[in-house]
Amino acid sequence: MKIQVLGSAAGGGFPQWNCNCANCDGVRKGSIAARPRTQSSIAITENNEDWVLVNASPDLLAQIKALPALQPARAVRDSGIAAVLLMDAQIDHVTGLLMLRERGSPLPLYATEQVMADLTDGLNIGRVLAHYCGIDWRPVQPDRGGFTIAPLQRTRFTPVSLESKAPPYSPHRNDPHPGDNIGLTITDAHSGRSAFYAPGLGELTPAVAEAMSGADVLLVDGTFWHADEMRLLGLSSKTAADMGHLPQSGPGGMIDVLDRMPAGRKILIHINNSNPILREDSPERALLEKHGIEVAYDGMEIEL
Ligand code: MLT
Ligand code: MN
Ligand code: ZN
Repeated sequence: MKIQVLGSAAGGGFPQWNCNCANCDGVRKGSIAARPRTQSSIAITENNEDWVLVNASPDLLAQIKALPALQPARAVRDSGIAAVLLMDAQIDHVTGLLMLRERGSPLPLYATEQVMADLTDGLNIGRVLAHYCGIDWRPVQPDRGGFTIAPLQRTRFTPVSLESKAPPYSPHRNDPHPGDNIGLTITDAHSGRSAFYAPGLGELTPAVAEAMSGADVLLVDGTFWHADEMRLLGLSSKTAADMGHLPQSGPGGMIDVLDRMPAGRKILIHINNSNPILREDSPERALLEKHGIEVAYDGMEIEL
């Protein structure tokens, strides 16, 4: 089984369209050692032809163009994307669903009841898509074991609830429920090897710590370096905690968490454009390397 990183940036991407922070300005001008990144999504395959998309990024069409294997061309209208699984209902993870509207049949969509409610009552994507291909909703229940997604056969998806919030637009933003956000263990039943994926991870609950401890590969929240990064750069008053993200630095931060984990590969994903780790020659990046932590990039492949 293979995990393909389609997009490794947080909401807004890198560079972000309206941002002139040192990172965005530098990557736009080519004056810093950093590569552009599209918004957060991964795809899973067993045969390089049939794929499960985990999150549908607003950059999905560019991601499909960048990866010809997502378009196997077996018929006059075709796609390798067999189904989509959502981790939450955030704009950067769901708006790409609208780009799949030309499908000839309803889109198999694996999502929790809470995410589906936000997609239908908050963002209206569910109702809008009903006028195009439609959605074939497959309810996901976190913390109740794993399931497979056809046509993938030997890949098991095991969701765990995350302690976090529904998106800002959600009618129940201030009334959190299990299922608003999930993390995912992706297991290859043949090799027994697994990856834990959580692009938004604010808190290490015992269930999350257990899932992370058992995984061979960790692909987790790399949004912010500093707990107060956006304010320090004059970009926003929101803290990492306000947004449900555990920063990498500081006591109890993601570096500390990853240091305790036995996984063979530790990879940060969903990186905000403000994060100094985007610069390949930064001291922050060197510190990650010292801890054996990698930074995901668009096009990265992880074999399990
Ligand atoms: C987040 O995960 O906090 C998002 O990237 C924010 C957004 O998409 O607006
Ligand atoms: Mn996000
Ligand atoms: Zn920026």
